[in-house]
Amino acid sequence: MMSQVGEKISVKTPEGEYPIFLGKGLLDLDPLPALAAQVRASAVCAVITNPTILSHHATRVIDSLRAKNFQPCVIEIPDGEQYKTLDTVRKIYDQLLGAQLDRRSIIFALGGGVVGDVAGFAAATFLRGVPFVQLPTTLLAMVDSSVGGKVGVDHPRGKNLIGAFKQPLAVIADTDTLATLPIEEFRCGMAEAVKHGIVGDAELFERLEKSKNWRAGVEDWLPRAIRVKADVVGRDPVEQGDRAKLNLGHTFGHAIEKVSDYRVRHGEGVAIGLVCASRLAARRGLCDAALGLRIEHLLRSIGLPTRIPRELATDAIIAAMQTDKKRVNAQLRFILPRAIGDVVIVDDVAREDVIATIEGARS
Ligand SMILES: NC(=O)c1ccc[n+]([C@@H]2O[C@H](COP(=O)([O-])OP(=O)(O)OC[C@H]3O[C@@H](n4cnc5c(N)ncnc54)[C@H](O)[C@@H]3O)[C@@H](O)[C@H]2O)c1
Ligand SMILES: [Zn+2]
Repeated sequence: MMSQVGEKISVKTPEGEYPIFLGKGLLDLDPLPALAAQVRASAVCAVITNPTILSHHATRVIDSLRAKNFQPCVIEIPDGEQYKTLDTVRKIYDQLLGAQLDRRSIIFALGGGVVGDVAGFAAATFLRGVPFVQLPTTLLAMVDSSVGGKVGVDHPRGKNLIGAFKQPLAVIADTDTLATLPIEEFRCGMAEAVKHGIVGDAELFERLEKSKNWRAGVEDWLPRAIRVKADVVGRDPVEQGDRAKLNLGHTFGHAIEKVSDYRVRHGEGVAIGLVCASRLAARRGLCDAALGLRIEHLLRSIGLPTRIPRELATDAIIAAMQTDKKRVNAQLRFILPRAIGDVVIVDDVAREDVIATIEGARS
């Protein structure tokens, strides 16, 4: 069980190590003075957030910063993936310059993955890089997007096509913020947590199977789910090998999201993608069909979709897979499970097998 002060998980990167603090009440930002001393931070700093999060949680952060002698300027970006763009970043630069941030000014990202990715990209590029702290407020951001240093924005031709690696000074994940998170957003974060169990922690997967109270008991399993990602990115910080395994379920998932015109949320696409990946794995003889059924059962009990909606055409899904930037040369890349906690990267999947998998995973 996690204490009030929380857990500390370390992430190793080529530029050094940074901590993820995880627990209740952490928006008091107690570790901040020590972190700020490390980079000799300026008093003036920026908190980038959106109106939804601002109304719930920003006062705490602003008060905490002022109590620690910081002078925060608050920068609001509109809520939604459609604002994860270079145009939003440009408006952020204007405000950072207006508030006279300098090279030692910290940028705080207070929000989900969208705020984290955009604010991180601004932090990576403003004045060639300023210190950056992630304050994730969605389960998905805590489990996945705030860890590992990938930041960026979307391009009209595809998601996350413009980006950088920007390791934060720290991630401070206050689980109290999850109290205001809509249930469907919570479930989307659960899809990534289930993914982490399949990629690298069978005991995490079993704990999630045994629990029916994922939300109230979040402190019991969340550190394990974060640790899977922290360990993988520590071993492969810029995705030259094993880090690709974290894309389990995403080749199918991204394509389903895209073809649905984003009516299927990212986590929902990932849930369906996890089922597709396990079916494709069984088809290739990497595992038996029972594995897919087990994964599907857990995702369903969480309330996530596991079948491809009828209206999404197979051809369109395949075409969308082909424009996914995670594709290597002309060949589609799939991460396929052999067992819970053991996945492999496969680059030679036949188109017929992909088609059959999609057809077999329809509702
Ligand atoms: N950088 C990475 O490694 C990485 C990994 C995975 C996903 N991502 C990116 O993350 C994004 C998805 O992140 P997300 O799922 O957090 O979505 P999001 O940031 O859009 O947040 C989801 C919704 O929840 C609201 N919200 C956030 N915190 C809240 C809270 N505590 N209470 C109430 N409402 C709250 C947001 O305003 C938003 O409407 C995508 O853009 C994806 O590409 C990045
Ligand atoms: Zn994802």
